[in-house]
Amino acid sequence: MDFTAKIETQHLNLYYGEFRALEDVNIKIPDRNVTAMIGPSGCGKSTMLRCFNRMNDLAEQIKVEGKIFIDGKDILAPDTDLIFLRRNVGMVFQRPNVFDLSILENLRFGLRIHRLLSKKDEIMAAIQGGLEHVGLWDELKDKLRKNARTLTLEQQQRLCIARVLILKPQVVLLDEPCSALDPISTLRIEELLRVLREDYAMVIVTHNMQQAARVSDYTGFLYLGKLIEFGETNQVFTKPHEKLTENYISGHFG
Ligand SMILES: Nc1ncnc2c1ncn2[C@@H]1O[C@H](COP(=O)(O)OP(=O)(O)OP(=O)(O)O)[C@@H](O)[C@H]1O
Ligand SMILES: [Mg+2]
Repeated sequence: MDFTAKIETQHLNLYYGEFRALEDVNIKIPDRNVTAMIGPSGCGKSTMLRCFNRMNDLAEQIKVEGKIFIDGKDILAPDTDLIFLRRNVGMVFQRPNVFDLSILENLRFGLRIHRLLSKKDEIMAAIQGGLEHVGLWDELKDKLRKNARTLTLEQQQRLCIARVLILKPQVVLLDEPCSALDPISTLRIEELLRVLREDYAMVIVTHNMQQAARVSDYTGFLYLGKLIEFGETNQVFTKPHEKLTENYISGHFG
């Protein structure tokens, strides 16, 4: 694996109180690719993802050790601008968490918070661009004032992705983004991720191994807080180096 890491962790440990949820994780995640994180429930996938934009900081009694670099800068350093970090490293969750507001307001929200654009025509162009990016513009352009909660779940999840993209992030984290969707919508979201990877470093957590195999270029396998294996998806799925990975992939546990 020959790439400059967009995200890199060195000896990353994370404790919730006394419990060590991540143990000496060393990973390099490439830019402009999809990296999947797989592993059984409770192995630390979401915890790891939340490290990359320091969302774990919101949990109580948390301790993080080691280093996490994004573009070579240690985001655990005390001078890290967390507001910028969370804009630059956007996140999409399991359930589409659209606000109880219009489609337009959902998209305008982040622009406002981050004071990104002020001119009305620039804002509208950004909103159009965001919706185009996720394939929603044509179907929603005449309904921008409709409440976002009236959309289908797939549309809502696309809107959540647009809400992240409109802030021009470099990294997009997705924590089981299709788990609330039906199989057809899931495939369509996967298609979108494959297009988006041309411009972003994307990290997707998934329980679904077929999904990891379909959508990702690289795969990491976590087990009990340890990164057991990381490599090109094809290698991890067809010729895993570790017995544990092989057992997991062949459905022997988890
Ligand atoms: N805020 C928290 N406080 C205490 N323990 C936590 C907290 N969040 C997660 N944990 C514990 O840390 C471990 C890893 O949790 P995490 O949610 O990262 O796993 P996961 O791999 O995402 O699981 P799942 O596949 O079920 O989503 C689990 O044992 C979990 O119970
Ligand atoms: Mg999780």
